[in-house]
Amino acid sequence: MRLKSRFAGPLRGRARPPGDKSISHRALILGALAEGTTTVDGLLEADDVLHTADAAKAFGAEVERSLDGRWTIVGAGGFKQPPETIDCGNSGTAARILIGAASAYPISARFDGDQSLRKRPMNRVVAPLTQMGARFDSAKGTLPMVVHGGRLKGMTYRSPVSSAQVKSAVLLAGLGAEGETTLIEPERSRDHTERMLRVFGADIEDVEVDGAFHPRVRASRLKGAHIYVPGDPSSAAFPIAAALIVQKSEVRIEDLLVNPLRLGLIETLLEMGASLTFEERRDPIGEPIADLVVRTSKLRGVRPPERRAPAMIDEFPILAVIAAFAEGETRIEGAAELRVKESDRITLMVDGLKACGVDAEELPDGLVVRGNGPKSVRGGASIRTHGDHRVAMSFLVLGTASKEAVVVDDAEMIATSFPDFPGFMRAFGASIESA
Ligand code: S3P
Repeated sequence: MRLKSRFAGPLRGRARPPGDKSISHRALILGALAEGTTTVDGLLEADDVLHTADAAKAFGAEVERSLDGRWTIVGAGGFKQPPETIDCGNSGTAARILIGAASAYPISARFDGDQSLRKRPMNRVVAPLTQMGARFDSAKGTLPMVVHGGRLKGMTYRSPVSSAQVKSAVLLAGLGAEGETTLIEPERSRDHTERMLRVFGADIEDVEVDGAFHPRVRASRLKGAHIYVPGDPSSAAFPIAAALIVQKSEVRIEDLLVNPLRLGLIETLLEMGASLTFEERRDPIGEPIADLVVRTSKLRGVRPPERRAPAMIDEFPILAVIAAFAEGETRIEGAAELRVKESDRITLMVDGLKACGVDAEELPDGLVVRGNGPKSVRGGASIRTHGDHRVAMSFLVLGTASKEAVVVDDAEMIATSFPDFPGFMRAFGASIESA
């Protein structure tokens, strides 16, 4: 399916973005690991998360959706031998976190995924889990692979990458391991697993190592809980960006997750001069929530500090688009992880921006975009997305503010994270139609 976006006047209105993807995966996985009933409201019903729901069933949980949209998971108190291969689709989060959780049980589970996921590195979880005592059959350290779990020993793992997927895999393995498991990462990545483990009653605390705090777990039995999933800031980034760059716009994004470890893009946009105001902040158990009012803004180029990368890792593609409408140079460094996401997002974003007439350049670990202000971007290109949902949405946002329309070659994969993205944007007045 090809989609085309073009300028159609200011964006106005209010809407709630779909539920947070990271929290949705974790609610299903912890619900399946727990004893008793877990209820989830606001779950993201997108392809990535639906693969995790199927996996939870295959590992022995009862998973049901009621007509009012509430999901109920009756956990088996651990993972059982799955009858079939666990298909993770396009989702690196599903694959890596489920592999970690499965490692703690005396089962052999085969994991697989689509062509993009089969290329993504799994050694980052295989290495620590092997040290804890799990065994893996895999030809090249990628999917498909079989995990043989059970009899793990806790450890202190110093992860070379700041990755919430690696952290979550190790912590969930630690729930079934002998002794303590501590995960140390260079910069703290999103902490949804740690927060949710507390809600499920796990033995988890923060310990100080070398002057910073890191999570440590001990063997625990989880108890079913109620989870509310707020709106996903990584999905909201697209309408936020469009409202900033389409002249005379004002939108209100409701019920947004405002966990500080997810707000790197917002911090960066404020440094660029964006008009962003949080309202009605609330702090229920688990995760903080607020509404966000966004108004079109005159933006300047920015250089986000490298340590901020984990807090905005999924937002660099859309930041690159916003930078094209700012005045001056935006320089993104310390983001080499972008090369091993659903696609090589550095190459694809730079190629697409150049095709739209933007001055952009690749760096080994990032990119440079030289913007010329709000009315400078030509657009008028057909963009290769290589099946990457965030690349597709980024260029559709570019098309809402460029002089000529933009077409993306394949918008199918947007459903992995943001079902009905075109409908959501149209409700604000954008023009995104099939081409
Ligand atoms: C995620 C962590 C991030 C992010 C991904 C979701 C998670 O990946 O890119 O979209 O839910 O834990 P890494 O932890 O590998 O950086």
